[in-house]
Amino acid sequence: MSIPLSIKWDDKQLVILDQQKLPHEIVYTKLEALKDVYEAIITLKVRGAPAIGITAAYGLAIEAQSYKTNLMIDFLERLKKDATYLGESRPTAVNLVWALNRLLNVASQTDNVLTAKQLLVEEAKRIHQEDEESCRNIGEFALALLENNTKVMTICNAGSIATAKYGTALAPFHLGKERGKEFEVFACETRPVFQGGRLTVWELQQSGVDVTLITDSMAAHTIGAKGIDAIIVGADRIAKNGDTANKIGTLNLAILASVYGIPFYVAAPSSTFDLSINNGEEIPIEERSAEEIISINGKAIAPVNTKVFNPAFDVTSSKYITAIITEKGIIYPNYMENISAQLVDSIEKEKDYENK
Ligand code: MRU
Repeated sequence: MSIPLSIKWDDKQLVILDQQKLPHEIVYTKLEALKDVYEAIITLKVRGAPAIGITAAYGLAIEAQSYKTNLMIDFLERLKKDATYLGESRPTAVNLVWALNRLLNVASQTDNVLTAKQLLVEEAKRIHQEDEESCRNIGEFALALLENNTKVMTICNAGSIATAKYGTALAPFHLGKERGKEFEVFACETRPVFQGGRLTVWELQQSGVDVTLITDSMAAHTIGAKGIDAIIVGADRIAKNGDTANKIGTLNLAILASVYGIPFYVAAPSSTFDLSINNGEEIPIEERSAEEIISINGKAIAPVNTKVFNPAFDVTSSKYITAIITEKGIIYPNYMENISAQLVDSIEKEKDYENK
């Protein structure tokens, strides 16, 4: 039994677990150029907010090694252009631009191209390593909120393969397993592309966690019928007031938790907070192709010309969120005050960057 990993930095090469092929095949693919990284992100070979950020950081660092110029001004111009290109691959998860900005920031701290190239790789590795530590801490804090032998529902995959290791919403289950604390996890399948059925079920089975799959439409019935004790989800972007964008269907679960009177937890590292926006209305919501809805594995399940609306994420109002679990601790309402208070370090760092 082991916790699966989706991103490896092997001898200066970026290798990712192709999540499109799970659970049937376990295939690790090398990403060698910027366009490979862009393609891997947009086609969900690598997905999950922190994993997208880490992969993009390595991708930009790798591409920068091939820049021919010795002039720092040209180097930075090209780096910004490539960062903008990668940053547009998926609009909702803020970890993507957060990671790319960290790389731009570090490169602008030297006048020497060779040094910049080295710093970029070091920074990407640091982002990767920090995310593992953050997820472990999130798991520790979440474990303190979840009682032993309880039934917990989740959606999508906010697990080890969506991060450097452990995951966010799934971290307490992996850590609990190491400590002999047992949970019964109910995974929503997560239409349209089944991150719950294909990825969460597979990942939790790898580490021996008890997991039961349900379709998204069974959530309300299951909360009552099985006596679900809590719901825990990940996040793609959290506004200053706690409003949270996460996989489509998360809002349904939050409303159900409120009706059933059970806690609804969001687990996310501080890299998922966007303190430049006041509320969820400002979060860009990615819309994906009609193909994802009208067919499954290439087989049509609706008439070909069907009109489709396919938002990949929804925004849960912070009024439905019992607590937000970060690597720094547990944040309770009033979110407008308490998020800023906990993340004050990050705010100061953002200001430093903006002032440069
Ligand atoms: O479209 P995806 O699979 O990238 O969506 C992922 C999610 O919504 C996750 O819950 C979120 O990114 C957090 S991953 C720790």
